Amino acid sequence: MKFQTITGTKDILPSESSLWQHIEQTARSVFKRFGYSEIRTPVFEDTNLFLRGIGETTDIVGKEMYTFKPSAESEESLTLRPEMTASVMRAYLQHSLGAQSPVVKVYYISELFRKEKPQKGRYRQFWQFGAECIGSANPEADAEVIAMMMMIYDELGIKNTTLKLNSLGDIETRKRYRTILQDYLRPHFDKLDAVSKERFEKNPLRILDSKNPDLKELIENAPRILECLDEVSKSHFETVKTYLDDFGVKYVIDHRLVRGLDYYSRTAFELVSSDLGAQDALGGGGRYDGLGEQLGAEKEIPAVGFASGIERLLIALESAGISEKIQPPKPDVMLVAQSPLARGWIMKTAQAWRKEGLTVETDLLARSLKAQMREANRLGATFAVIVGENELQTGKFQLKNLLTSEQKEIQQEDLLSEIKTRTA
Ligand code: HAM
Repeated sequence: MKFQTITGTKDILPSESSLWQHIEQTARSVFKRFGYSEIRTPVFEDTNLFLRGIGETTDIVGKEMYTFKPSAESEESLTLRPEMTASVMRAYLQHSLGAQSPVVKVYYISELFRKEKPQKGRYRQFWQFGAECIGSANPEADAEVIAMMMMIYDELGIKNTTLKLNSLGDIETRKRYRTILQDYLRPHFDKLDAVSKERFEKNPLRILDSKNPDLKELIENAPRILECLDEVSKSHFETVKTYLDDFGVKYVIDHRLVRGLDYYSRTAFELVSSDLGAQDALGGGGRYDGLGEQLGAEKEIPAVGFASGIERLLIALESAGISEKIQPPKPDVMLVAQSPLARGWIMKTAQAWRKEGLTVETDLLARSLKAQMREANRLGATFAVIVGENELQTGKFQLKNLLTSEQKEIQQEDLLSEIKTRTA
């Protein structure tokens, strides 16, 4: 029996890991410059955390969660995390992080689980990097979070993207808008598709999100939430936009952008890419001032954040021709042994040189000189040093530069410093 990965999951193979590391390092470097620290939370949580946090009428909670009981008799229900924001807010409340710092800025690089129908860019286990800024109600926090997300894409060289921006107002605005939208849609109810009909009572704002071309015109002419905004949300949104203009971050206002999670208030944003196909959202986020209370806090905890899908980013990097430029690190030198005595010497020397910071390869298969040289070339080593009885007796070594085919005689005591200076 041959075991295979489960549908909707993927191995990240050694040939791909340099690219993953490059993405992670770029994200970490930007997060650091904005003063964010890493948070890691458990992969599974109490199911109620997500029911309350994400919202019972959302697709995620309704049909996409991997929920299980820890044992047959247990009353407990656990769920593999489908997103990070609820977990981060749970950790913030559990550990009173707000008492230690008025604004808590954290980032994560985590795997998530959603029982979706797998397709290109949509998996059942996938990765996100993201960040949450908890404690500030001010538009500066929104603008900084968006700018931070954009800086990561920018530094990765991602183009062909559109940043969509909207404001969902406060809770009262949304309640008011919900009724306005239902009143507008009601006479057209029969024209709605099955999914939208289902959403009409449960979550009518999500109808705006529909990709059904038959509903395009109806949705386009729908009353706009921005026209219903309360004064505070309106001025908050204006300030966020002014900052983004100041930062040179380009965006378009998208009246249809409501996002698929219920916790958002005021700013909502999403970055889409024309290189992605149907699943075109590279990342998204927004403000979620109500989530803390939803999870049991005594007062409102203002917060804003974003998350980006790493697998989708890989597709975008691939189509931009960037992934092929990120190569796995190559060895500085391959030590090639011509005899058993030489093998002993290269093993010891490789150890010593690795301690000095060099990447050193040796042959672990006791292959012929020719095969070892072929391996050195295959690995892309900069140098090869062939070691035989003669070299060990005389202390004179041939240092071969495999990239230029140059060869040079070097005294044993000078080998390390020569390789170090020429590979630095
Ligand atoms: P989200 O829009 O559900 O937001 O997910 C963010 C990103 O994760 C998406 O734009 C997409 O790139 C990626 N993603 C989502 N589902 C899948 C999937 N099944 N396969 C591959 N990639 C996927 C959130 O998760 C919010 N927690 C973001 C946030 C943070 N809001 C505030 N703070």
